[in-house]
Amino acid sequence: MLNKKTVRDVQVGGKRVLVRCDFNVPLSKEDPSKITSDKRIVESLKTINYLINAGARIILCSHLGKTGQNKSLAPVAKRLSELLDKDVKLLKDILSEDTKDFVMAMKDGDVCLLENTRMYEEEEKNDAEFARKLASLAEIFVNDAFGSAHRAHASTEGVTHYLPSVAGFLIEKEIAALDGGINNPQRPLVAIVGGSKVSSKIAVLNNLLDKVDTLLIGGAMMFTFVKAQGGKVGKSLCEDDKLDVAKEILAKAEEKNVKLLLPVDVVAADDMNENANAVICEPDDIPDEFMGLDIGPKTIELFKKEIELAGTVVWNGPVGVFEISKFATGTNAIAKAMADSEAVTIIGGGDSAAAVEKAGLEKEMSHVSTGGGASLELMEGKKLPGIEALEDKDE
Ligand code: 3PG
Repeated sequence: MLNKKTVRDVQVGGKRVLVRCDFNVPLSKEDPSKITSDKRIVESLKTINYLINAGARIILCSHLGKTGQNKSLAPVAKRLSELLDKDVKLLKDILSEDTKDFVMAMKDGDVCLLENTRMYEEEEKNDAEFARKLASLAEIFVNDAFGSAHRAHASTEGVTHYLPSVAGFLIEKEIAALDGGINNPQRPLVAIVGGSKVSSKIAVLNNLLDKVDTLLIGGAMMFTFVKAQGGKVGKSLCEDDKLDVAKEILAKAEEKNVKLLLPVDVVAADDMNENANAVICEPDDIPDEFMGLDIGPKTIELFKKEIELAGTVVWNGPVGVFEISKFATGTNAIAKAMADSEAVTIIGGGDSAAAVEKAGLEKEMSHVSTGGGASLELMEGKKLPGIEALEDKDE
């Protein structure tokens, strides 16, 4: 549960409100002015519309891409104008007098968007002076950028030192779903963890083992577990320096009485492309020149049964190389099984969210997170600095 004040707890009418959103949206490679998924923009509308109706003067800000890439938020301003059906002006220089003059002249219900905060290298350094200048544009700060809440940057954490700071509705919704799903779930709680590397999932696996009833492991990270148990993994991705970690995780599952299931069959191929020769084999008996790239049909059935029995299913990380359709069957089957299930279904953002969106099953899930890194850190049991910095709810 979010123990922080939200937009409901502050008077915003007639006030200049700085709203940090996560408008770090995917752009088309062929035409970078085209947004390929506007989910993050759409998810921010509830807070923005609430503020418009309450008569606030709304100054939106966000990063886009990495520092140095200098990507413009112009496509986002355009999409926001369409979705809100009002002009959202993009203010090109956050620190200029023109920007200050513009925001000071805003009327109740007006909305503007500051240009990409990562056009300033001070942003990621959480530079105090930059944060102070950003804050000086407004009277209240609302953080609704769940996807960036794991970053202590000037526009997420720095500004909270200068303004009364509360959470928006998206952060509230994400915390209710992710934190509630893991710490106060309808049982049995089944977690599916995939992805390529055990090393990037150690913390999440360790935290989940304290919470879940069943843990299903897929993705290339399975091979580190398989090899740790003496299996033959061929050319599959495997982290030889993490075999001990895998053994420790298996031992912890046993100690905690968690049902940990590894795949019983895999799709292995001689190359990672659509034309590769593929076979179905056991995960611990992969031919030398082959690599495991997806879970196999028996594993799909095994995992589906666990999903059917679940009260809550939390999914983080695809179970195969879903970007290549030949190896997307397992990931699509997991998405479909979750969509068909009566359980509370939570998708932990990033690649799994992309897979669900690609399969067109987003609406069938209880919650699809807008955060990749942020939801992973939350599932690791970490505190997110962008949320921690907000004002506590009154007792
Ligand atoms: C994301 O896309 O996960 C967030 O917008 C954070 O982006 P970052 O990893 O570049 O900080």
